[in-house]
Amino acid sequence: MSFKSLATSLLLVGAAQLSRAALTRRVACPDGVHTATNAACCALFPIVDILQSEFFDGGECGEEAHESLRLTFHDAIGFSPTKGGGGADGSIMVFEDIETNFHANGGVDEIVNAQKAFIAQHNITISPGDFIQLAGAVGVSNCAGAPRLEFLLGRPPPVAASPDLLVPEPFDTVTSILARFADAGFSPEEVVALLASHSVAAADHVDPTIPGAPFDSTPSVFDTQVFIEVQLRGTLFPGTGGNQGKVESPLEGEIRLQSDHDVNSRTACAWQALANDQAKMAADFRAAMSKLATLGQDRTKLIDCSEVIPSTKTVSTRPHLPAGQNESDIEQACAASPFPVLTADPGPATSVAPVPPS
Ligand code: HEM
Repeated sequence: MSFKSLATSLLLVGAAQLSRAALTRRVACPDGVHTATNAACCALFPIVDILQSEFFDGGECGEEAHESLRLTFHDAIGFSPTKGGGGADGSIMVFEDIETNFHANGGVDEIVNAQKAFIAQHNITISPGDFIQLAGAVGVSNCAGAPRLEFLLGRPPPVAASPDLLVPEPFDTVTSILARFADAGFSPEEVVALLASHSVAAADHVDPTIPGAPFDSTPSVFDTQVFIEVQLRGTLFPGTGGNQGKVESPLEGEIRLQSDHDVNSRTACAWQALANDQAKMAADFRAAMSKLATLGQDRTKLIDCSEVIPSTKTVSTRPHLPAGQNESDIEQACAASPFPVLTADPGPATSVAPVPPS
């Protein structure tokens, strides 16, 4: 090797080492405890701690975590290239008087008010758009099986309320639901991935006679049960019949959204692919959520502070049929492949308890 090519090789090796060091260099945070890849992330550690201890009742996957996850969606989906709206910008909090009155945002005022009070009480200075996405990511990290979501910091304050009619309703047609998501940039497969959120979810307002009615039998675990149970034949109405947006469900106490049922019918193979694949469900949800959380934002101007999100817990149960159900209760909708073979829980037919208010 000539002297010139040896010198060039050494220079290249040196440059590679320097850029690796730059990538991994961490700054010490003023709290003397944490380090961060970017000093701006330091301010988030105490916010996450207090969210966990106070807002999420010591790190629970309970009602606040569920509602905070729902709020990430209702803020972000207020975005359309043609109709306007700033996306994940916190407008649902700042322009609460307008947006929480939209019909599709029914019940969202509760979590908006709870988060606003928390922000005021703890003098939190990150923007409302950042806070909503941070709280959603921290909350869902408490649900076993959930992925550790990306969190990017730096959304500017919102400039206006989002227009009405951008948030899908459970009684909308599947065509209009998928068209609304497509307008915001999501494929049908990404919509299915986002609906993994309904694994840790309940409804208070679809049928007000049964507040806290879960969408699957395990509402505090981010597991695949929602992708299994929405495919079971509906046989009963928990609570009362005749509510807009609600269709028959297979289990006492479990509520089924018309939108979940109809989206499943249209995207059956994508839906079925998640029924028995926890890892795929978590990975697809993470990818779709990182898109949702930055709708309307310039990602290149945001700082990656994902490291502040608590590490997540693995799910201990396996995908199963609820007790009292068997394979013939599955309404096979994917023509390309059979529904995975699952065993049923033993014992009397499963009935699902409401998610308690906190
Ligand atoms: C087809 C689109 C969707 C429709 C029509 C829809 C509709 C609904 C409805 C009607 C409720 C019950 C509200 C109540 O009565 O209290 C609900 C709850 C919920 N939704 Fe969705 N949703 C959709 C997509 C999403 C997405 C994309 C996310 C998040 C990424 C999400 C997260 C949640 C969560 C976590 C809850 C439970 C809230 C709680 O337990 O308090 N939803 N959704």
